[in-house]
Amino acid sequence: MQYTVLLVDDEQSILSALRRSLRKEGYNIITAGSGEEALSMLAEQQVQLIVSDQMMPTMSGTEFFRKVRDIYPDTIRILLSGYTNASTLMESVNEGEVYKFFTKPWNDEELKVAIRRSLEQYELMAENRQLLDQVQMQNMELTKLNASLEDKMRQLQEYYTKMEDYHREAQEAFVTTIEILGALPELKDPYISNHSERVREHSVSTGIRLGIYGERLDELGIAAKLHDIGNIGVESYVLNKPGRLTPEEFEKVKMHVIYGERVLSFIKEFEWVSKVIRHHHEAYDGSGYPDGLKGEDIPLESRIIFVAESYDSLVSPRPFREAMNHGDAVGKLELQKGGFYDPSVLEAFLATLGARAAA
Ligand SMILES: [Fe+2]
Repeated sequence: MQYTVLLVDDEQSILSALRRSLRKEGYNIITAGSGEEALSMLAEQQVQLIVSDQMMPTMSGTEFFRKVRDIYPDTIRILLSGYTNASTLMESVNEGEVYKFFTKPWNDEELKVAIRRSLEQYELMAENRQLLDQVQMQNMELTKLNASLEDKMRQLQEYYTKMEDYHREAQEAFVTTIEILGALPELKDPYISNHSERVREHSVSTGIRLGIYGERLDELGIAAKLHDIGNIGVESYVLNKPGRLTPEEFEKVKMHVIYGERVLSFIKEFEWVSKVIRHHHEAYDGSGYPDGLKGEDIPLESRIIFVAESYDSLVSPRPFREAMNHGDAVGKLELQKGGFYDPSVLEAFLATLGARAAA
C-alpha cells in the first residue's frame, strides 16, 4: 500500500525541504499551508501520517492535531517545532495528540526512520483493528445464532407441550371410547348393568395377584371391560330369554366371542385384546368354546376373565333366575375348579375377593 503523508507548514520553504527529505521514501506526499487547509484536505482523502509545524498564524500545530485526533484518531501525528517549549510539547504528547516531535532544524535520517516506524505501527494497528472488527462481527453472529437457537428451543418446547396435550386428549378419548364400547352390551341387556366394570375390577385384581403388570395389565383391563362387546351381534330375545336356551339359541350366544374378536380386530393395537376376548369362554378341561382349547393353551387373561365373568353373572339377577349369594356362587365355582376354571386362577380370584371383603 502506498501511504499518503500530509505536510503542514505556513512556510513554503519548509514544505519544500520536507518534501525533498522524503522524496525517495515512496510516499504520496501532499502539503497544506495551514491547519484549516489541512483539515479540508483530510475531509477529501485518506491520510496515514501528518507532519505539522507548531507555530502557524491561525491555528497552532497542537490545536490542529487536537482536531485531527478527534476526527481521525488513527492518523499518525508528528509535530515539528521551531523552538523547544517544553510545556506545550509535554501537553501534546501526554494528551495523545502527537506521536512524536522534532525540533527544527530536523535530522533527515531521524525523521525518515521515525516516519517509517510510525507507519509500521500504523499498519499493525490497522491489522489489529481489522481483527477486532472480525471478532466483533463473529460475536454478533454468535449472539444472533444463540438467539435463534433459543428461539428454536422455545419452539420445540412449545411443540412438545402441544404434543403432550394431544397425547393426553387422545388417551382420554381412548378411555372414553372403551367406556362407551363396554357399556353397549349393557344397553341390550338391562340385567347386566355395570357387569363389565365389575368384571374389569375382578380381573385386574386377580391379574395383579398372578403377577401381571404394566401394559399387559392395561390390556387385561380393556379385554375384561369389553369381553361381552360381541353381545351386540346376538339377538336380544336370546340374551333376555327367561327360560332355558335351546341348542340353536345357545349356538347364537356362543357367537358373541367371535363377534367380539371380529369387532376389536379392526383396531391394530387390540390384536391381543381381541384374542383374549375370543377365548374367554374356553374351559380349563377343554370343554369350552369356541376352540375347545385346554389348560395353558388358553391365554391366562382369558382364564381370568372367565372366572370373573362367571362369578359376577352368578351373583347378578338373570332373566331365568334370582341372584345367588356370595357363598353359593363361590361353592358353584369351586365345583368347577380344574373343570371350567384354572385352579390357580380361581384361587387367586377368591383370594382377592376375600382380601377386598376384609378391606
Ligand atoms: Fe361372555
